[in-house]
Amino acid sequence: MTSKWLALPMLFQTSLGKDCWSPPETLAAPKLNQSHSEWLAELKSWRHNHSQGYNAEAYRDPSLTWTRTSFVQPQIHLYDLFLFNGSWTVDRYLDDLDHRYGGIDSVLIWPTYTNIGIDERNQFDYFRAVPGGLAALSNLTEAFHKRNVKVLWAYNPWDQATREEGQHWDVMASLLKASGGDGFNGDTMKTIPKAFWQAGQARSYSFAAEPEGGGIPCNDDDYSSAGWTPLGWGYFGHKRADGMTMDYDFEPGVDKMKWLDPKGRHLTHVCDRWSKSRAAAIQLAFFNGDGYESWENIWGLFNKVTDRDAELLRRSATLLRWAGQRNLSHDFDNWIPHAPEATDALHGIFASRFEKDGEALWLLINKGNRSEITVHVPATYLGKGYELFDLYHGLRVSPNGGVVNASIEAIGISALFATTRGAPQELLEKMRVMSKHPLAMFSETWHVLQQEMDARPSSKVFNASSPPPEMVLLPRVNFNFAVSGTEFEGGCDPTDDPNQVCCTSACREHGGPGCQCGVMQLEYFGVDVQYPWETRPDRNHKKELDLGPLLFDRDLVTNSDYLQYLNASGYHPADKFNFLKHWDMGRPKPGDEQKPAVNIGFQEAEAYCRYYGKRLPHSYEWQLAAQGQDGRRYPWGHDWDPSAVPPPGHDPVAIAQYEKGASVFGVRDLVGNVWQYTDSFRDEHTRAVLLRGSSRYNPQVSEAFPSLHQSVNWYFPPAHELNKHSKYFLMSNSYERAGTLGFRCVADVANGAAAPYHYHNHHSTDDYADRPEVQFI
Ligand SMILES: *[C@@H]1O[C@H](CO)[C@@H](O)[C@H](O)[C@H]1NC(C)=O
Ligand SMILES: *[C@@H]1O[C@H](CO)[C@@H](O)[C@H](O)[C@H]1NC(C)=O
Ligand SMILES: *[C@@H]1O[C@H](CO)[C@@H](O)[C@H](O)[C@H]1NC(C)=O
Ligand SMILES: *[C@@H]1O[C@H](CO)[C@@H](O)[C@H](O)[C@H]1NC(C)=O
Ligand SMILES: *[C@@H]1O[C@H](CO)[C@@H](O)[C@H](O)[C@H]1NC(C)=O
Ligand SMILES: *[C@@H]1O[C@H](CO)[C@@H](O)[C@H](O)[C@H]1NC(C)=O
Ligand SMILES: *[C@@H]1O[C@H](CO)[C@@H](O)[C@H](O)[C@H]1NC(C)=O
Ligand SMILES: *[C@@H]1O[C@H](CO)[C@@H](O)[C@H](O)[C@H]1NC(C)=O
Ligand SMILES: *[C@@H]1O[C@H](CO)[C@@H](O)[C@H](O)[C@H]1NC(C)=O
Repeated sequence: MTSKWLALPMLFQTSLGKDCWSPPETLAAPKLNQSHSEWLAELKSWRHNHSQGYNAEAYRDPSLTWTRTSFVQPQIHLYDLFLFNGSWTVDRYLDDLDHRYGGIDSVLIWPTYTNIGIDERNQFDYFRAVPGGLAALSNLTEAFHKRNVKVLWAYNPWDQATREEGQHWDVMASLLKASGGDGFNGDTMKTIPKAFWQAGQARSYSFAAEPEGGGIPCNDDDYSSAGWTPLGWGYFGHKRADGMTMDYDFEPGVDKMKWLDPKGRHLTHVCDRWSKSRAAAIQLAFFNGDGYESWENIWGLFNKVTDRDAELLRRSATLLRWAGQRNLSHDFDNWIPHAPEATDALHGIFASRFEKDGEALWLLINKGNRSEITVHVPATYLGKGYELFDLYHGLRVSPNGGVVNASIEAIGISALFATTRGAPQELLEKMRVMSKHPLAMFSETWHVLQQEMDARPSSKVFNASSPPPEMVLLPRVNFNFAVSGTEFEGGCDPTDDPNQVCCTSACREHGGPGCQCGVMQLEYFGVDVQYPWETRPDRNHKKELDLGPLLFDRDLVTNSDYLQYLNASGYHPADKFNFLKHWDMGRPKPGDEQKPAVNIGFQEAEAYCRYYGKRLPHSYEWQLAAQGQDGRRYPWGHDWDPSAVPPPGHDPVAIAQYEKGASVFGVRDLVGNVWQYTDSFRDEHTRAVLLRGSSRYNPQVSEAFPSLHQSVNWYFPPAHELNKHSKYFLMSNSYERAGTLGFRCVADVANGAAAPYHYHNHHSTDDYADRPEVQFI
């Protein structure tokens, strides 16, 4: 997550005082006119000075050598539809990545943030909750292994306020061992405590640690954790003004963690996930013989790699994988970054030389628009028996007066290889075919992924003049619908913040209990949802809607209602995981009958309503029922009133106890008791449902982690205000069932708005204008 790794839990780095100076993750390139040998001596001196306590434990473990060549790693949500679409589809997911950018070496599976914190389930519970649970994850891992892909789990050290479950490192080690997992990514962590390594050793199960902060310690002082941290993420640039994407030094920096190990056995995945143009990060990784974090589904916002960047990644990864197999990009004898014989800094040509067993590999990047590189080959590699290859183009090349020229594309890469052991035929052929078309032929255009709101079939048509006793009639109105999503990330523009969801003082002042706000970053695209009248997903939504008439359940569906439903319908879930977890022996616990029914999946809630001829409400219908027409912030008025809602706590309270909290239409328990299901959305990769109203439960990262100067709480954001909604990702009933998430139903009436979206657009004539003939029940 953006920037939050700057803060580190006290638990994990006791040396961390209030001020943790975060050094850059790279060593700067030679200064202008600085001699290369002087610069290299400085780098070696830095290594010497920082190697105290560094014991390279992980590198002596042969089961972890895979980390050195894990060049391409995406983070992926387990609910991504390419990976799970009613069943697990590892091949479908990997085939797509093979096709688009040449495949991956490891995968970071992530089921936790942003849903975590909605109820007491802890981070490990989210792995258990996926369809099939840990057994399915074992199978999933096996399927990835069959395709030579290692599996890392997400780890959220800040998850200290949900259900407690032993020491995190013990749980992580046990679960990885049980599922065959290969490692974990330490979200927000600068370094990894040794306890994780020891927990693996205690179980005779080594796994790789990958801190988001790369392994760079506070204050640049104690690098001992590098010894048990073979992987890391790298934020190798400076944040742009947008606060999200990175700017890079023109002269590429040298990966500190890789440099620290004299054999370069550490591998960093350079991460710049919000950038629509990824070439700079891919080049920087290539220059360092490092990996790239090819993350696209970022909390449901799809930042698709452009065709050109995908092709660049395919070519760089192909070259790196070959170099990795040959132990040239790691475990080398020598690494000379900014190798003077091939570098032309003025024109943006930068080269690294890697040497091993008499062979040399130059990895070059072109940050400018030269079309040619010139390499003054060191005498050693001009000696007897040496052949030189332009690996990128798959060609043998002949030096002329010790100089080799090769073509290179603007914002492209190249690789030169000197060997006495003959041509690497297979690679040369592969690269010859691959490089036939210039990168310039591939599109650099970035597209936002379109979402669709799921159509919701009309309910049976009820008689508005004689509504059932549990329902109230909402009249037909022109509703000024205005709402914003509460996502922390994805950008939040404080100059365009009509409903105050950005982290501004106004948000904090007005933001109700447990105010949680979006991180202020100017660059945003595709965050939140896309309503049918919008051209792309966006954080803020505003539309005048012709709604109603319709009937609305006055109260939430209770445990007693749901028991009756189970009895009448005979419903039995295929997957019982967490189904009505709070019940006892198939019944609500005594005293719980009038509490809202929770631990029910989204489809299960829909099925309930349908059974009674009703449907779930649209989010704007829910808002109308709660808000009336005066734009108020809460059902009872503009100001927060703690006496109108249940006090903060864990479990729901019985319905209808807070009449003061009722809306102008008499609808109750809208805010502060349980979250309520409304509309669902999907794009090609992700499904999500908008939840309204918030629950009593609001865990706080910051309170449990007093050492963190967190401006943001990373748990599921509350949305008590009626102009906010929170987005909850959907996967399966087992995954969605939450102890704080309930629902109520609505019903269409004669002459109400029409399917499929149940609204009528005043200002255009072609939008669902017809109100169809319907049958009364
Ligand atoms: C670097 O060297 C060039 C040519 O040798 C010279 O013109 C320039 O002034 C030097 N720059 C600095 C900052 O020393
Ligand atoms: C390494 O430590 C020595 C002795 O303190 C110091 O002189 C030198 O500048 C340090 N090297 C670097 C690159 O900081
Ligand atoms: C998921 O399954 C649905 C229904 O079979 C299909 O239409 C859709 O294309 C699938 N999505 C993906 C990403 O495979
Ligand atoms: C895991 O794979 C085994 C063997 O293929 C299969 O029998 C089992 O049903 C799978 N389990 C899950 C939960 O997918
Ligand atoms: C590369 O290194 C690994 C592990 O150190 C070794 O097993 C392998 O044989 C080496 N490969 C080559 C081509 O030298
Ligand atoms: C690319 O070429 C143009 C025109 O020759 C030049 O103005 C520009 O500075 C060059 N860009 C880089 C990064 O070298
Ligand atoms: C390489 O390019 C330079 C400058 O373009 C040229 O002077 C030289 O002759 C070329 N050398 C070879 C071997 O092609
Ligand atoms: C609707 O209810 C009213 C009042 O009970 C009744 O007069 C009317 O006949 C009902 N309409 C239909 C179509 O059943
Ligand atoms: C519903 O409850 C009744 C009375 O207890 C019982 O006879 C009937 O079998 C139940 N039906 C189902 C589907 O459980």
